[in-house]
Amino acid sequence: MTEKKIPTHLAIILDGNGRWAKKRNLPRLMGHRAGLRKLEDMVRLVKREGIRYFSVYAFSTENWNRPQMEVTGLMSLFRYYIRRKVDEIKSEGARIRFCGRKDRLPEDLLAQMKWAEDYTKDEKILDFILCINYGGRAEIIDAVNKLIAENPQTPVTEQDLRKHFYLPDVPDPDLIIRTSGELRLSNFWLWESAYSEYYFTDIHWPDFDEAELKRALENYAGRERRYGGLKS
Ligand code: FPP
Repeated sequence: MTEKKIPTHLAIILDGNGRWAKKRNLPRLMGHRAGLRKLEDMVRLVKREGIRYFSVYAFSTENWNRPQMEVTGLMSLFRYYIRRKVDEIKSEGARIRFCGRKDRLPEDLLAQMKWAEDYTKDEKILDFILCINYGGRAEIIDAVNKLIAENPQTPVTEQDLRKHFYLPDVPDPDLIIRTSGELRLSNFWLWESAYSEYYFTDIHWPDFDEAELKRALENYAGRERRYGGLKS
């Protein structure tokens, strides 16, 4: 019997919190809260599936354009999550990592993020990557600028650039799931998604559950990845 193919790196675009809340006549922030609770379950489920890297798009470089109240609310949720949930994450054998630009984030949140990364750095079962203030274009531009500052030998290679990404040791996502019906990448893992498989579902993120995850993973397992090569 052949082993079931599972993604080494699963990435999720957490979309639909706002629509989930609207359907229930709740403020948007309640949708984000429900989304956060769902994320807590998902870390356990993803680990149980044997996935090694799990990344989520929690706040993009474009999300600063949302109303101030929503941005402040999301920052508070990130603080709450780090303060209250990191021990639970660590006890699952998961290491927390943050991916994105460090500018614009509040100083106290940055300090908490650094603390959480240090506190969980020796955990080896799962890398749980929170993309906060992340944008794929920003990542590429930041890498190019770091590379130029090094005055590299030209021509530069893909590897030269990749070394300067935010998390160069993390393998490219094998599967990217996007919830809530939108069929786009929205600046997530722009370079790294060159050969990723995509899975889209109409389910809003706070309703995404174990059955939905299994459906996405089953679907992925049935795909043939060719990386530009020929059909086998
Ligand atoms: C997109 O839904 C969701 C976000 C911009 C925020 C996602 C954040 C969370 C789930 C909280 C995560 C917390 C941590 C600690 C990572 P949307 O608001 O764009 O939904 P809509 O398209 O229906 O309006």
